[in-house]
Amino acid sequence: MDYGLKNRLSRIIKPKDNKTVMLAIDHGYFMGPTAGLENIKRSIAPLLNYADSLMLTRGILRNQIDAGAGIPIVLRVSGGTSILKDDLSDEDITVSMEDAVRLNASAVALSIFIGSKNEKQGIINLARLVDEGNRYGIPVLAVTAVGREMTRDARYLSLAVRIAAETGASIVKTYYCDDFERVVNTCPVPVVVAGGKKTGEEEALELAYNAIKRGAAGVDMGRNIFQSEKPVNMIKAVKAVVHKGLTAEEAYNTVYNIIK
Ligand code: R5P
Repeated sequence: MDYGLKNRLSRIIKPKDNKTVMLAIDHGYFMGPTAGLENIKRSIAPLLNYADSLMLTRGILRNQIDAGAGIPIVLRVSGGTSILKDDLSDEDITVSMEDAVRLNASAVALSIFIGSKNEKQGIINLARLVDEGNRYGIPVLAVTAVGREMTRDARYLSLAVRIAAETGASIVKTYYCDDFERVVNTCPVPVVVAGGKKTGEEEALELAYNAIKRGAAGVDMGRNIFQSEKPVNMIKAVKAVVHKGLTAEEAYNTVYNIIK
């Protein structure tokens, strides 16, 4: 692997334990002002010290994130549709690799929609992005987006994740499911899990714990952190599960509930 690519990957997946806590705040690229992200400067600044990387769009990065914050950036570079449409799969690449370099991105992220009517478009976009990224030493994180009509089971997710890796993604983000080992064990690159819709804090910590136990390299979590009643405590608790091996119960009782 090229040095630059390897070096950037190590900013995201920490070499000391090969794990990562990515904070995802890119929801606005198709959802607009998502609850908890209305004023990103105010809500996200306190969390930056605890996340290993921040996944977001260039518009929010340029306008709302302190350039001196020192947090590795995973730049969302796909889009083109909104929640007002029934089919969210009609995405294209929305940011040039040159701009990603200008923004000092440690990785770029794009969604693919396996099984959707725009499946091919997503895979070809991913392939193009990987080629461009290789030119500059920038890894690509592929997000396996799941349409409303698709079942989030190991059969489907392992298919989607494997296709992303075969196309050249350096990291693949997917959803947690039963038999998650199957998803991880059939993927040659690190797999991280999304948090999904806001649930109870213990439940979200349980998801993180189970994902790590079954081989995930970490989480790329958004709503379950920034929509939590205590977002700083929540990210610290997630970190304790991912990097320190605490169980969900331990993290909930000794980190989420204890720290002010
Ligand atoms: C969705 O397409 C975005 O990429 C989010 O970053 C992703 O869903 C993770 O956020 P959450 O934990 O809120 O699901």
